Amino acid sequence: MDAPSNDVLKIEKVPTKAENGFIAIATINRPNKLNALNDDVMNSLKELSKWVEDSSEIRCLIITGAQPLPPEEGKRAKPNAFVAGADITEFVGMNSTETKVKFSDNGVEALWNLSKPTIAMVDGFALGGGCEVACSCDIRIASQRSKFGTPEINLGLIPGYGATQRLSKLIGYGKTLELVMTGEMLTADEAAKIGLVNHVCNHEQLFEMTMDLAQKIASKSVFTLAAAKRTIKASLNNSLEEGIKIEAEEFANLFDSNDKEEGVKAFIERSEPEWTDS
Ligand code: COA
Repeated sequence: MDAPSNDVLKIEKVPTKAENGFIAIATINRPNKLNALNDDVMNSLKELSKWVEDSSEIRCLIITGAQPLPPEEGKRAKPNAFVAGADITEFVGMNSTETKVKFSDNGVEALWNLSKPTIAMVDGFALGGGCEVACSCDIRIASQRSKFGTPEINLGLIPGYGATQRLSKLIGYGKTLELVMTGEMLTADEAAKIGLVNHVCNHEQLFEMTMDLAQKIASKSVFTLAAAKRTIKASLNNSLEEGIKIEAEEFANLFDSNDKEEGVKAFIERSEPEWTDS
């Protein structure tokens, strides 16, 4: 199955070091609009998610934003951006009925619902919907020059792609209220301090650091990773007691998998496991 690459979402496949498949790198590509999420990007994120989920060769997904183009003569350079939010120009005159259609079953939810590992590689502004795309990924790695925030309040709005819920789960109720109510931006270091970002590095090291992490994750069993993700996600919607029961069930079920036999055998034989992802 071919990657659903197009003008607004470029998809590249990088072979894994373990030679067991590929890491997909999806680049949101509207650099002149700071990679703002218009309908085309959102539809492409849905297609991307379906492709990643269905493809037996993709083991990990990295989402990033296109770098700025060289400035036109006499014009200033655009800043670096992961994604500077939903495309505000699409909001003009939009009513609640249209908004419900546009924002339901959207590309950010599609990314969130993936069973495979996802990493947001952030270099620049991650604002509004951009912060929400990042929060829908499993792991966030940011360059030092990145900025995070939910400035929708300045447009007379609140976040609509999940930040009131997912950001709150990541950084807590009080910090989310502060970010949403002030619309202020955080530096990457500040974002890391409150758990919004997993790692911060110099922008020159960002790609290598992200790929190293992706390669590590891609070397594991996709089947076991999905169980890990499902089980950890269950902690978001369940009481501790309920979550522990879910973990016990998921843990026990893995003992019927081929990859548990393979992993244990490889440890005992001091060899590298050859996952069957089953
Ligand atoms: N939607 C649509 N276009 C956007 C955009 C968005 N969310 N964010 C930036 N752009 C466009 C700008 O309109 C501008 O286009 P133009 O060159 O054709 O005029 C281009 O991207 C560059 O942005 P600009 O504002 O000139 O860059 P800056 O360095 O002065 O400021 C930001 C950068 C990120 C602070 C500023 O662009 C901004 O506040 N963006 C909106 C953030 C936001 O509110 N996001 C939540 C949306 S719900």
